[in-house]
Amino acid sequence: AIIMDGNGRWAQQRHQPRALGHRAGVRSVRKVLRAAHSAGVQYLTIFAFSQENWKRPELEVKLLMQLFVATLGREVASLNRNNVRIRFIGSREGFAPKLQEAMQQAIELTKDNTGLTLLVAVDYGGQWDIVQAARRVLAAGVEITTESLELQLDTHGVPPPDLLVRTGGEQRISNFMLWQLAYTELYFCDTLWPDFGDAEFTRALEWFASRDRRFGRLPESA
Ligand code: IPE
Ligand code: IPE
Ligand code: MG
Repeated sequence: AIIMDGNGRWAQQRHQPRALGHRAGVRSVRKVLRAAHSAGVQYLTIFAFSQENWKRPELEVKLLMQLFVATLGREVASLNRNNVRIRFIGSREGFAPKLQEAMQQAIELTKDNTGLTLLVAVDYGGQWDIVQAARRVLAAGVEITTESLELQLDTHGVPPPDLLVRTGGEQRISNFMLWQLAYTELYFCDTLWPDFGDAEFTRALEWFASRDRRFGRLPESA
C-alpha cells in the first residue's frame, strides 16, 4: 500500500501550481504499477484522496476530481489490457454522479481480470472504514468479532498489506487503513511522490525483504 504524498511541495519547489504536482503524480502511479507488476505484487492499494482532503481549498479539490475523472477515462482500457482488476475503497458519496458512474464502469470492466488488483482509496478514511463495517455487522444482527468486522471492511477479500510506503517525508498514517495496517511493515522516505519511481520502489521492496516479521512470536533463531 502506498500513501502518495508530496505532490504539492514538488510543484511549489518548481514555482508551479500544486495541480501540476498532482498531474506529475499520476505518472508515478503508472511507473510504480509497472514495477509492482514486474515484481509479482498481487495487491496494490494507493491513497489518492482522504476524507480529510475535502478540507482543502475548493479549487484544489475540484482540480483533483477533474484529474481523477480524466485519468480514469484515459487509463482504464490499458489497465484492462494488462489484466489489472480495479477496485475502489472509500465512501464515494461525495462524488459527482458522473464520476461514480465511471468508477462503477471501471470495476465492471475489470472484475474478471486475474493479474494485479489495484485498490484506489478515494474519499477513504481508516476510522470511517471501521465504523461502516461495524454498522453493517450490527445491521446483520451478527456479533462483532475480529472476523465478522474484517468481512465488512471495504477491503474485504484483500489480504492486509505486507508493506506500506509513504513518500514525502512525513512519518504518519493520516487515517489510512488503520485496521489493515496492524502488522504491516512501514517504510517512510523523503522522496516526493512525483519523483518516486522504479528504483525507489525496488529499494522499498529490498528493505521489506530484510525485515524479520514476528507477529508477536519470538525470532526463528531464539
Ligand atoms: C498528496 O500530495 C496528494 C493528495 C493528498 C491528494 P499533497 O497534495 O498532499 O502534497 P504536499 O504534501 O502538499 O506536498
Ligand atoms: C495523505 O496525505 C492523503 C493522501 C496521500 C491521499 P495528506 O497530505 O493529506 O496528509 P497530511 O495532511 O499531511 O497528514
Ligand atoms: Mg501532503
